[in-house]
Order: sequence, then C-alpha cells, then structure tokens
Amino acid sequence: MRRTIDWADDAIVIIDQCALPAEFRTLTLRTADELIGAIRRLAVRGAPALGAAGALGVALVARAGGDVVAEAARIAAARPTAVNLSWGVERALAKLGDGADAVLMEALAVLDEDEELNRTASAHAAEVVLAACPRRPLRLLSHCNAGSLATVAWGSALGVVWHLAERELVESVLVDETRPLLQGARLTAWELERAGVPYRVQPDGAAAAAMARGMVDCVLVGADRIAANGDVANKIGTYGLAIAAAHHGVPFVVVAPSSTVDSSLASGAEIVIEERDATELTEFGGTAVAPAGAAVFNPAFDVTPAALITAVVTEHGRFG
Ligand code: MRU
Repeated sequence: MRRTIDWADDAIVIIDQCALPAEFRTLTLRTADELIGAIRRLAVRGAPALGAAGALGVALVARAGGDVVAEAARIAAARPTAVNLSWGVERALAKLGDGADAVLMEALAVLDEDEELNRTASAHAAEVVLAACPRRPLRLLSHCNAGSLATVAWGSALGVVWHLAERELVESVLVDETRPLLQGARLTAWELERAGVPYRVQPDGAAAAAMARGMVDCVLVGADRIAANGDVANKIGTYGLAIAAAHHGVPFVVVAPSSTVDSSLASGAEIVIEERDATELTEFGGTAVAPAGAAVFNPAFDVTPAALITAVVTEHGRFG
C-alpha cells in the first residue's frame, strides 16, 4: 500500500480517509487552509500521521513564503489532542533558519522514520502481548484505527497484529466500530480485509460482553498523547474498554511512537480533549437520528489512567 501521507510535485498527497471504504482515492493539498480542512474533517488522521502532516504543512508554508511561524501555529492548532501534530510542526519549524529546502528535508525525515519507529514499537509490543497472554492463537480486540492509515505506514496497535499474523499467531480480531465516525468499521476492517487477517466488526457496546464471554485475550490500542505518569489519551471509548478489561483480567496494551509522549504534562488530567460537532451524533449519512436541536456531548477522546494499562510500549520498549 502507498504511504498514508507523502510529498509529491510540491504538494502534500494523502489517502482520503473520508472516502474509505467505499472508494480509495488520494487528495492533493497545496495550501495551509486545504491541509487544516483535511485534518479537521479527518481525511488525514491518527496521531503519527498527524505528526507527518504537521511537518509537511510547515514545508508547504515555508515554500510559499509569508508569515511561516503564524501559518505553522494555525496548522498546529487544527486539532488539539494528538501531541504529534504540534511535535511535527515544531520539528520542521526548527529548520526554518536554514531555508525552505532544509524544512522540507526535515519533514521528509519525519516520514521516513515513522514506519521504522512503528515497526519497532509494535515488535516490542508483540513480545509483551505474547508474555501476557498464554492462549494460542490469539483473539485480539481493536478500538478506532491505529493501523497503517493512522501512521505514514505500518501502524502502531494494528502493527502488533501484522507482526503476530506473520507468525500465524492471530486467530481473529474483534473490531470496535468506534462511534461516531466509525474509524474501526471503515478503516481498521478495511486494513484487516486487505491483509487477509480474520476479523469481526462489533458495536462498541459489545466489547465488555465479548470479554465477559471469554472471547478476548488482549486489547490493543494506540494513543494520541501520553502524560509523564503513563495516563493515555485515545479515541473516546478507550477508557471504558480499559475498565472492562481490568474487570475481566484481560491485558490492555497501548502502542505508540515516543513522539506521542508529552512529558510536559504530569498527568492525563492536563490533556486537552477535542469536542466535535453535534451533527456527528445527530445525523447519520445526512439523515436526522436525534430530535432537531438535541444537545450533545461529543468528546473525540478520553483519558485512561495508567493504573488500568498493562503496558505502554514505544520504540524504546515499555514506557514508565
Ligand atoms: O480522531 P482520530 O481518528 O484521529 O483518532 C485516532 C485515534 O484515537 C488513534 O487510536 C490514535 O491516534 C493512535 S493512531 C496510531
């Protein structure tokens, strides 16, 4: 599969994740506004992919000239929770004094490193899973999409599935559909289908019942920001999954590159949680599914306390 996000002909090229799984198409982004729009509507999404988007965004505005620092700040603020976005922006911006070409080189280095870091992190995590779960082959549970589409290539939590599947150690993956934007049903299931790994999509509300029935050996998720104490922000519903996993004695493993760690935050209580538009809940495919004007609570992420997590794994091994 091609990279989720790349640079070609002086522009950013992304796989349009709003179109999947119905259509595989790419989008070419030539301005900061086009990039910010794509980030906000989740055409490019997932913490490591947002790191690449931030770095390439600075390359884009550096080549255009003007107030690069102000444009970079706008890109970094497009979504607040995944620290990788501002990390990528800052990494590329640090090269601005050396000129636009140096900024682009740094952004391309971010992309080149991403697959290697995620492969390494997920290889470490695969060993953690094998040590924590005696049953073979494994029955895994995935939430949101932490696959190739959430990174430049390979994936973090789903990268663990790729490593284990290569060793024929995966029986199946239960895929949380991941309300309300269905990153699990649309994107994770699409990736598993293409890879030929057996899976079943389930409503998010079925996860605890699946654990109660003994159908899950391990929960695998990615992360959008990891605080210094090991608390983890990830897609809404992750916290509830962790509570259910702890109740049922199911290992709960978080996989992320170290660019997702924000050691400036003492705990997850300090993480800013994005709240998204009401229509994501009140409409489905353009049809109203709630009374007109219904008030909503639509946080895109939640924070799982470190105490509920078996291991947070980065390319350096276990965190904390
Ligand atoms: O709103 P999204 O789709 O960007 O949320 C993505 C997630 O929550 C992922 O689990 C996280 O970014 C890790 S991706 C390797």
